[in-house]
This record gives sequence, structure tokens and C-alpha cells, in this order.
Amino acid sequence: MNKCTLVTVLALACGSALAFAGDKKGDAEKGKEVFQQCSVCHNADSTEKKMGPGLKGLFSREKMNNGKKPNEANVRAKVDEGGNGMPAYKEMLSDDEKDDLIAYLKTL
Ligand code: HEC
Repeated sequence: MNKCTLVTVLALACGSALAFAGDKKGDAEKGKEVFQQCSVCHNADSTEKKMGPGLKGLFSREKMNNGKKPNEANVRAKVDEGGNGMPAYKEMLSDDEKDDLIAYLKTL
């Protein structure tokens, strides 16, 4: 590794450590971007069904289709595992992206 590479690596490591320190859990703005890949199947601005149920007001509902309460853990589990026509996102999204996504879904 030459000097220049070393400096670059250190700078990157520092940068992400700083970003991490200042990061609150979940950024709804970023989550909105992540949601673009969900919006082929889900409406965000209505409860009208597309491929899957519209997600407006998701977190204020009594329950989801699977009968569970729409809290953070259950919504995350649905996103991770999918099922009944919904793809599983466990490997497709990072934990940060899922945090952002859930922060966004809460605003709907
Ligand atoms: C290929 C279409 C498709 C894509 C893409 C998709 N979903 Fe779904 N989703 C569905 C279907 C169909 C269901 C209904 C499954 C069921 O009833 O069990 C569903 C169910 C859900 C539910 C549960 C809703 C409820 O009331 O039970 C949530 C939350 C959800 N999806 C979030 C997401 C998020 C977030 C993404 C993007 C990361 C996403 N979905 C991407 C098809 C999709």
C-alpha cells in the first residue's frame, strides 16, 4: 500500500465514523428514496391496492394483513421476509436503509 492509498483509507474510515456518530436512527428523507423500489407495488399516498396494499397510514392501523400490529419490529420483519407476493428484502437492503425506510413509512 503506498502512502496515498493509506491516507485515502484513513480519511474514509474517519469520515464514516463521524457520519455514524452524528447519525440518528433512520432518516425519512433517505427512506423516501429507498421506497422508490417499493412504489412499483405500493402506493404511499393512498390505501388503494397496487400489487400490495397501499401503505398510507400504515403505522396508525389496527393491524397488517398478517394480523400483526404495525410496529417497527413487525414492519421490519415483513420487509425482511416478504411473502404472498412481496419480495424478501433481508439481503437486498442494508440495516441503515431499512432504518431509513421505516422512518419514512412512519410519515405516511
Ligand atoms: C413485487 C411487488 C412488491 C414490492 C416490490 C414490495 N412489496 Fe410490499 N407487499 C407486496 C404484497 C403483494 C404484499 C401483501 C402481502 C401479504 O398480504 O402478506 C405486501 C405487503 C407489504 C407490507 C404489509 C402491509 C400490510 O398491511 O399487511 C408492508 C409493510 C410492505 N409490503 C412494505 C414494502 C416495502 C417497504 C417495500 C420496499 C422495500 C415493498 N413492500 C416492496 C408486494 C410488494
